[in-house]
Amino acid sequence: MANTHQEKLQEMKANPILPLLLLLFVFPMALQLPAVCLAAGGSSAQLHPLVLIPGSGGNQLEARLTKDYKPSSLVCAFAGSKGKSGWFRIWFDPTVLVPALTRCFAERMMLYYHADLDDYRNAPGVETRVSNFGSAEALLYLNPYLKHITDYMATLVNTMEQLGYVDGHNLFGAPYDFRYGLATEGHPSKVGTQYIEDLKQLIESASAANGGKPVILLSHSLGGLFTLQLLARSSSSWRQKYVKHFVTLSAPWAGTVQEMLTFASGYTLGIPIVDPLLVRGEQRSSESNLWLLPAPKVFGEKPLVTTVNRSYSAWDMPEFLADIGFGEGVYPYKTRILPLTEDLPEVGVPVTCVIGGGVETAEKLFYGEGGFDVQPEVVYGDGDGTVNMASLLALEAAWAESASPVVRVIRVDGVDHTSILKDKSALTEIVGEICQINAISTGSLAS
Ligand SMILES: *[C@@H]1O[C@H](CO)[C@@H](O)[C@H](O)[C@H]1NC(C)=O
Repeated sequence: MANTHQEKLQEMKANPILPLLLLLFVFPMALQLPAVCLAAGGSSAQLHPLVLIPGSGGNQLEARLTKDYKPSSLVCAFAGSKGKSGWFRIWFDPTVLVPALTRCFAERMMLYYHADLDDYRNAPGVETRVSNFGSAEALLYLNPYLKHITDYMATLVNTMEQLGYVDGHNLFGAPYDFRYGLATEGHPSKVGTQYIEDLKQLIESASAANGGKPVILLSHSLGGLFTLQLLARSSSSWRQKYVKHFVTLSAPWAGTVQEMLTFASGYTLGIPIVDPLLVRGEQRSSESNLWLLPAPKVFGEKPLVTTVNRSYSAWDMPEFLADIGFGEGVYPYKTRILPLTEDLPEVGVPVTCVIGGGVETAEKLFYGEGGFDVQPEVVYGDGDGTVNMASLLALEAAWAESASPVVRVIRVDGVDHTSILKDKSALTEIVGEICQINAISTGSLAS
């Protein structure tokens, strides 16, 4: 267990260009289609429409500053391209890598919990929007001018196009403001609730545009959690009419230990030149990040974080949040998030979870004398590099007692949380699944 997080950081610091170079060389690869798809003999007209639901940070996001914006510095007062409309790209913008501008990014991305509303809102003077809802366009690259380093779903979409999927006809994308999450029922969650409403309408119109065929939902990461909630909050007759199958990629059903590191010390998404403490406040403020803290139901009593003073299991999350200096997160966590993570509701549609595995994933964090401002020693366990195996398998475990088990897990070893969208062996599995779902319903098996 010699390979600690510290050493990894050291390695990356020694060669700050290396991770970027690695990204540069991940080109989309042509994929040989498995025979099952060709055997089905379906033309694209027969395909079930496909709706893509991205993960956190998995789509472009725009912002606009109004006169209420209070920049923390002169730099932030002037940073950001203000075109005629005032809208500019906030995610992903490479200037976030310049420390002075990282600060501007963080203050603009910050969410605020308003106790009087019992809900989250943007920072004062910052408007955000997601453009091109309904199209897969905004999911392809996080920045269309930096295609090679910000490829997100481009390879996956390209692969689906080879099957006969066409954006806007039978292929759709549902980008969203991923900083927001959902709350347990009875608590308002304006942005997240609007999103699942919009997604629901997109599903209905996708079906209508394709002869009333029910849709296949294909999510990545956090998108799986939103989609599960959408299904749980819809009637069973709606689900029968509109949803053929739900395929999830890398869904963190019960959160991740990595998220505790993010809350305690900030996390730079593996970009070593960003100071994690510069983005920590913004990351703590994100409602969806709170949703991704390890769920007590799955992680149990195991100590996940150990400091010089004590250890914290997933059950100790309120104390953990207070001790890291994020006391304001305790109330929304306890009232809005914790009840949401207590249950993974059955949704009565078949689900396939495609997951990575066998990749070192943060499982225990050890903080020394320096406290939470210093990156911890990390002990790794099984997972996809971001999500722990127990979380990736949590839906299957939760539904194990179900009378009609409808969840299937496909594990692809050596594939990490995001490369599942690009890796050849993962794509082969995903294509196989999408083809099989389509083939079954064309009647080729029934005849
Ligand atoms: C440990 O406890 C001391 C005394 O209460 C406190 O000052 C310190 O911040 C704590 N350290 C950590 C890492 O929790």
